[in-house]
Amino acid sequence: MEIVLGVGGGIAAYKAALLLRLMTEAGHGVTVVPTANALEFVGAATWEALSGRPVRTDTFEAVDEVNHVRLGRRADLVVVAPATADLLARTAAGMAPDLLGNVLLTATCPVVLAPAMHTEMWHHPATVANVALLRERGVTVVDPAVGRLTGADSGAGRLPEPAEIWERAQAAAAAGAPRRPRASGSDAEPTPVPLAGRTVVITAGGTREALDPVRYLGNRSSGKQGAALARAALEAGATVRFVAGSMSVPTPEGVERVVPVESTQDLLEAVLAEAADADVLVMAAAVADFRPAEVSDAKMKKGDDGGAPVIVLERTPDVLATAVRTRSEGGPMAPLIVGFAAETGDATSSVLEYGRAKLARKGCEMLVVNEVGTDKVFGRDETAVTILFADGRPAVETVGSKDQAAAAVVQAIVDDLAGRDPAGASGR
Ligand code: CTP
Repeated sequence: MEIVLGVGGGIAAYKAALLLRLMTEAGHGVTVVPTANALEFVGAATWEALSGRPVRTDTFEAVDEVNHVRLGRRADLVVVAPATADLLARTAAGMAPDLLGNVLLTATCPVVLAPAMHTEMWHHPATVANVALLRERGVTVVDPAVGRLTGADSGAGRLPEPAEIWERAQAAAAAGAPRRPRASGSDAEPTPVPLAGRTVVITAGGTREALDPVRYLGNRSSGKQGAALARAALEAGATVRFVAGSMSVPTPEGVERVVPVESTQDLLEAVLAEAADADVLVMAAAVADFRPAEVSDAKMKKGDDGGAPVIVLERTPDVLATAVRTRSEGGPMAPLIVGFAAETGDATSSVLEYGRAKLARKGCEMLVVNEVGTDKVFGRDETAVTILFADGRPAVETVGSKDQAAAAVVQAIVDDLAGRDPAGASGR
């Protein structure tokens, strides 16, 4: 499951690191969202190292990724430990001065708050009222433990042990999301997250095939289309694994993990590992079809004879075809595989004819066909794509930004998954 671990600004923040370990060791993806005060106790580096994900505190960091709504929407569980008296008060009042506040306002999944504070604060009528209100709304507020507090004092207010919080959190997750009472007069539907619970592997960027330790054969892929696909899939609520070749744009925020690759062989290994238990594999990477048959261990020298080396090439493995073959041989592989094709038409066949032939040859379920020329597609923001389906559904055409193309591809994925499993994605 996708968990957001909120950390409030209290001395017990260090215990949240142990809680994080319990979550990641159980195989969950965890995004840590500390408050600014929490970072005074445990720094971002600790959270990033333990979660393997970037850590943000402020709503205005990575604004283009719309983190403040996306994190809450796609979470299956939000746990806040320690929750200070101040954080409880803000949450009860629906205030969102930072990223964690925004997550708590947008989350529709189970929310578990584990308070820690001095005994007087816990017994203060304001805190008592806030806790009662939060519980009434379906939030799980774990009672703090009794015992020694930070100073010489002791009483109710200690953060419960991480194992206990984790147990309560798992129970809350199993019980499911509380029904949030609608504010009267509000008829706004929440944004649908049709890929919630689905894992999508997206390959992006170009591969590089080494000639010697400093030179390579590469291509002009920018990775923009792959990054746009990742954003669209995240927006639809998916857990995204991003396999990144060489890219000229940043890798998107909010993905479960980024797996950097260089050569086609690296890409093949990453895809077989990452897509084995995924629902969807999207092969948007621009993959080399050929690589130098021999890679020189030392940098190739010019020599004095004025000549130039002859580079002999060999075929690279076809990653997409290998993924399809792995699946047809009964191996672990995503049930939905989406290929991309960069095509140019010629005198004998049109772009779409070549696309249909490639879809049949590759054996995947969908093929996204781009018409390429020197001034089209690579590195550009605009694109024209046609999505072809192996099951005979009519093709879908889009002209516009790479984000619009990505949205069309993600909608096609939603439709396909919904058609396979009516209990699963429901984007129709
Ligand atoms: N692809 C791949 N492994 C390769 C080459 C391509 O997985 N060695 C994938 C790409 O990521 C893309 C799809 O296959 O999703 C189509 O790539 P393209 O290069 O257009 O197709 P090719 O089969 O190489 O056909 P062509 O002869 O047109 O180059």
